[in-house]
Amino acid sequence: MANARVAIIMGSKNDWDTMRPAEEALEGLGVACDVRVISAHRTPDRLTKFLAAAEADGIEVVICGAGAAAHLAGVTAAHTLLPVLGVPIDSSALQGLDALLATVQMPGGIPVATFAIGKAGAKNAGLFAGAIIARGDAEVRAKLEKFREDQSAAVPERPF
Ligand code: RP5
Repeated sequence: MANARVAIIMGSKNDWDTMRPAEEALEGLGVACDVRVISAHRTPDRLTKFLAAAEADGIEVVICGAGAAAHLAGVTAAHTLLPVLGVPIDSSALQGLDALLATVQMPGGIPVATFAIGKAGAKNAGLFAGAIIARGDAEVRAKLEKFREDQSAAVPERPF
C-alpha cells in the first residue's frame, strides 16, 4: 500500500480477525498500514523479499501476528533493523501460550517486542507502533494524545 508506514503481517489468512485491531488502532491515528499474509514457513521467499524492500519502501515498524510455534516475528527481526512487534495468536490447541513463549523467548541479540495474546495484543501493538511514529510526527502524537483523553473520559466514575 502506498504511503504505508507500518507493515502488519500474519502467518495465515485465519489470523486476520485477531490482527484487525492493530490496523484499526493505526487507522485511528492516521497511520497507513500495509497488511499482508506472510508465513515464515509456508512462504519463506515472500517474507525475505518483503523485508528486503520494506525499509526502502517507507515502512518504519513491522507488526507480526502468528500462532502455534510462532517464529514469524523472530525470523522477521533477523532480516531487518526495523522495530518488530510480535502478537501471539490463540489459534492452536494451546490457546496462544505456545505462540506467546515462542515470540517472547528470543535469545539475546535479535529483539522482538512481544504483546499480549490475541486482540488486546494486536490493539496494543498498533498503538505502540503509533507511539514510535509519534516521536517524529506531531500530528500522530496529537491523535495519540486525543485517543488517551477520550479513553479516560469514557470511564465512568461509578459502576452503576
Ligand atoms: C501459524 O499457524 C499461523 O499464524 C496461524 O495462527 C496458525 C494456523 O494457521 P492455519 O493452518 O489456520 O493457516 O503459522
